[in-house]
Amino acid sequence: MKNYLVTGGAGFIGSNFIAYILNKYKDIYIINLDSLTYAGNMENLKSVESHNNYKFIQGDICDKGLVEDIFNEYDIDYVVNFAAESHVDRSIKNPDVFVKTNVMGTLNLLNVSKNAWADGEGFKSGKKFIQISTDEVYGSLGDTGFFKEDTPLDPHSPYSASKTSADLMVKSYFDTYKMPINITRCSNNYGPYQFPEKLIPLIINNCLNNKPIPVYGDGLNVRDWLYVEDHCSAIDMVVRRGISGEVYNIGGHNEKTNMDIINNIIEYLNKNVDDLISKNLITYVDDRKGHDKRYGIDPTKIKEELGWYPKTSFEEGIIKTIDWYLGNKQWMDNITMGSYQEYYKKMYNK
Ligand SMILES: NC(=O)c1ccc[n+]([C@@H]2O[C@H](COP(=O)([O-])OP(=O)(O)OC[C@H]3O[C@@H](n4cnc5c(N)ncnc54)[C@H](O)[C@@H]3O)[C@@H](O)[C@H]2O)c1
Repeated sequence: MKNYLVTGGAGFIGSNFIAYILNKYKDIYIINLDSLTYAGNMENLKSVESHNNYKFIQGDICDKGLVEDIFNEYDIDYVVNFAAESHVDRSIKNPDVFVKTNVMGTLNLLNVSKNAWADGEGFKSGKKFIQISTDEVYGSLGDTGFFKEDTPLDPHSPYSASKTSADLMVKSYFDTYKMPINITRCSNNYGPYQFPEKLIPLIINNCLNNKPIPVYGDGLNVRDWLYVEDHCSAIDMVVRRGISGEVYNIGGHNEKTNMDIINNIIEYLNKNVDDLISKNLITYVDDRKGHDKRYGIDPTKIKEELGWYPKTSFEEGIIKTIDWYLGNKQWMDNITMGSYQEYYKKMYNK
């Protein structure tokens, strides 16, 4: 039996990951620790909430006493840390909470794991801390080249700076204490259960509600898109077989401009849902401050060392994703009209 502490498991990728591994393994037990910010949504966990090998705990990764209690009660083998403030635009408006959760929260998890796993001068066997990071820590690319694991870190937004700081803390626990860790850095994910402030669900939601689709600058910024289930399979391989201390880049060579994505979704919805959905909804707005031009992941290392490859092409994944949002309009309505506003008011006094 392997016991996982998954943090941030009520968010987009964490909830997909929990469903993925509960479906795959019988001999695992999962504690999902999530504070349920605006981005956390219990509806994402409907398919697993009554599973015998799953428990949800509402709480903050910064809460030392709570995390210690979890380690005391369950013999945690793997910590998979998804919990984060994850939206770049919010980090530009309010960086503080990004440092608190993404840096201090990660540090708290590292400290509690280190103490719980200590065994004399070393660590008990079979334990590992996996930090879910992002390609944004590498900064921006020109027209050519790809991010490799040894590309210098050069974050530009408060979000990516906080993720970089967390990565460096995680790395330091390996370098200093030899604590078993891995760091994964993936490109933009898409798929079911993504909060509709992020590009793909935002476009779908706005098209369906006849709202303008805001496009930053010229819309030609390039992102490398990864279907969330492919990301989950990569994380699973890193948890089980990643070499301790190593960083793994995860991406599928699916580079698209924001305009490619917008046009693709509009065309699909125009053809399959309502021919009034059109490019007239596109509205250019001032560019995001410090907007990185291009991200592109080189996934050679995880392919060669762990045999991972993405199974879902962008053409297939985007249709699956749009169809999921079309089939789950209630989910979208609940999330846009409920928890989001409450949290936003609390955090930003609006
Ligand atoms: N979505 C992407 O495309 C993408 C790409 C690269 C990396 N990542 C990284 O993957 C991870 C998950 O991303 P996501 O898109 O699922 O994020 P998300 O915003 O959808 O979910 C984050 C989750 O963390 C929880 N959380 C926030 N602060 C917390 C705290 N202090 N204590 C406990 N829980 C807390 C939220 O309630 C939410 O459920 C993040 O670390 C993010 O940096 C995401």
